[in-house]
Amino acid sequence: MIFHTFTADETEALGRKLSEHLKPNSIIALDGVLGAGKTVLTRGIARGLGIEGIIKSPTFTIICEYEGRLPLYHMDMYRISTDDEFEMTGGKELLTSGGVCVIEWSGNIKESLPKDIINITIKVITPEEREIEIEGIEL
Ligand SMILES: Nc1ncnc2c1ncn2[C@@H]1O[C@H](COP(=O)(O)OP(=O)(O)OP(=O)(O)O)[C@@H](O)[C@H]1O
Ligand SMILES: [Mg+2]
Repeated sequence: MIFHTFTADETEALGRKLSEHLKPNSIIALDGVLGAGKTVLTRGIARGLGIEGIIKSPTFTIICEYEGRLPLYHMDMYRISTDDEFEMTGGKELLTSGGVCVIEWSGNIKESLPKDIINITIKVITPEEREIEIEGIEL
């Protein structure tokens, strides 16, 4: 499925909608350039899971955990590039721990992820327009 959004709020709303379909151990692999809107989409997912407060890219902390309808593990693989490193962060274990994992820059650890996951690619069309391709789930 391909969606076009024209504001950050619309992208957040799409994340909220997506969250309604998430289950324990759902994995969302998120890709797109710096500033594409990966964190905005993740914020929508978090809101949909009942999580309030600030959601920002865990670029330095690598993984942020939030308590919601399901636990949310928000990961940022920007600085990670091998399976060993991914394991060291504890991220690998979290994939099957019953929560929802949202992984920014998932392309860096592709080999570490199961095949049967939700893949989302965000393309920047204009400063405000995004093309968001979602595979692996029906909305
Ligand atoms: N249609 C849109 N959807 C999402 N964000 C948008 C849109 N239009 C403008 N923006 C802006 O683009 C920026 C997206 O930032 P965001 O932090 O979500 O990117 P990111 O993909 O997580 O980047 P990074 O790789 O640095 O973590 C925000 O400043 C947001 O306001
Ligand atoms: Mg981000």
